[in-house]
Amino acid sequence: MKVTVFGIGYVGLVQAAVLAEVGHDVMCVDIDENKVNALKKGNIPIFEPGLAPLVQKNYEAGNLHFTTNAKTGVEHGSIQFIAVGTPPDEDGSADLKYVTAVARTIAEYMIEHKIVIDKSTVPVGTADKVRDVMAAELRQRGCQLSFDVVSNPEFLKEGAAVADCMRPERIVLGTDNSAAIEPLRELYEPFNRNHDRMILMDIRSAELTKYAANCMLATKISFMNEMANLAELLGADIEKVRQGIGSDPRIGYHFIYPGSGYGGSCFPKDVQALIRTAEHIGYQPKLLQAVEQVNNQQKHKLAQFIQQHFGNDIQGKIFALWGLAFKPNTDDMREASSRVLMETLWQLGATVQAYDPEAMSEAQRIYGQRADLRLMGTKEAALQDADALVICTEWQNFRVPDFDLMKKTLKQPLIFDGRNLFDPDRLYARGFTYYAIGRGA
Ligand code: UGA
Repeated sequence: MKVTVFGIGYVGLVQAAVLAEVGHDVMCVDIDENKVNALKKGNIPIFEPGLAPLVQKNYEAGNLHFTTNAKTGVEHGSIQFIAVGTPPDEDGSADLKYVTAVARTIAEYMIEHKIVIDKSTVPVGTADKVRDVMAAELRQRGCQLSFDVVSNPEFLKEGAAVADCMRPERIVLGTDNSAAIEPLRELYEPFNRNHDRMILMDIRSAELTKYAANCMLATKISFMNEMANLAELLGADIEKVRQGIGSDPRIGYHFIYPGSGYGGSCFPKDVQALIRTAEHIGYQPKLLQAVEQVNNQQKHKLAQFIQQHFGNDIQGKIFALWGLAFKPNTDDMREASSRVLMETLWQLGATVQAYDPEAMSEAQRIYGQRADLRLMGTKEAALQDADALVICTEWQNFRVPDFDLMKKTLKQPLIFDGRNLFDPDRLYARGFTYYAIGRGA
């Protein structure tokens, strides 16, 4: 099938590459000329395992194209994905200007029926807005063309995006026109083998499903972080508690890892956007507000441990930091807890020596050159002359470090661990002072 994807961000690019891989003819459109040119040369703007070879292979095979020309894009696909960003505006609501701009463009250039799919995470009611914008544009053109608007939220995880997209757990489709379902079945047929993963519903329910899923997951994390804080005060170990409750299948082991707060481009933004949606219609979403508050507080947890340990004596200290990305297998630092930590340490007059397997250039891009941030080439180099090690991301190769070397390299054997990577008793036995989340110090 001929498909067009507007927006070559995370969701758009992965979706386009995966659709091309199964044989569809996919045209990607973006207004960013640099990005489009880079992609044509095989330079992928994001780090995502497996994505670069997939893009390259399908681009070379001729079933994945990149353009800045919106008209070409609209002409290409009978199915038009809107996968542009919905950044938070000043009050935290999702800003729909990019989504509606694409909708207008599609209506401006279409000369036959189109199925328009909202893939971006958009508030309930957005499909209605897309429809209104398109109808107004077509009216202005004096056209009588028909179109369908479908809500088809994306559930991929960064770091596992290609695999998630290739083998989706569910394909949620919200539509008010059953005639749109057949082409969508054909589109997703290669991803829908063995058992039917399609969940059909009305548009508003599909739009809310996306927010409900992310808010549920964020709630699990904030709940665990609150339990971790309680465990600390009560002298319990949250890691034991986690296993104790996870064994109940109604609770499950997934997404109950306490830590230094959730980050990324989705949970913080989506929780906030649903809060704003609720408030706009006069509903106080108390649970969601608490989820957000607990998370904002949790991002200060490591800095609090550090202040608890050093008192006011932080000026001039050097902290080794392992992990800048908001989670492993990505270079994304959006809303990462490492940023709250670094910014607090800098305010207190400390220097950070950071290492991350993928996010070094992203840190450089965000913070530029500054004397109190040293980006180090290896995790061992980051330890050199540091007063303590702080861990913000659970990269696999942080899990079994050379503790003897660490002891020799650090000024003192002191670790603040925001991801509970180590067994406290083993570290105590080796002479370390070890702070972790919900495990006592
Ligand atoms: C999240 C959802 O998991 C995806 O299903 C969804 O499609 C995506 O948002 C989206 O809306 O686009 P993502 O932001 O890539 O995916 O990352 P997650 O793996 O969900 O992690 C989010 C944050 O939660 C990370 O900072 C992670 O460290 C933290 N987390 C996760 C915990 O603190 N504890 C856990 O048990 C799990």
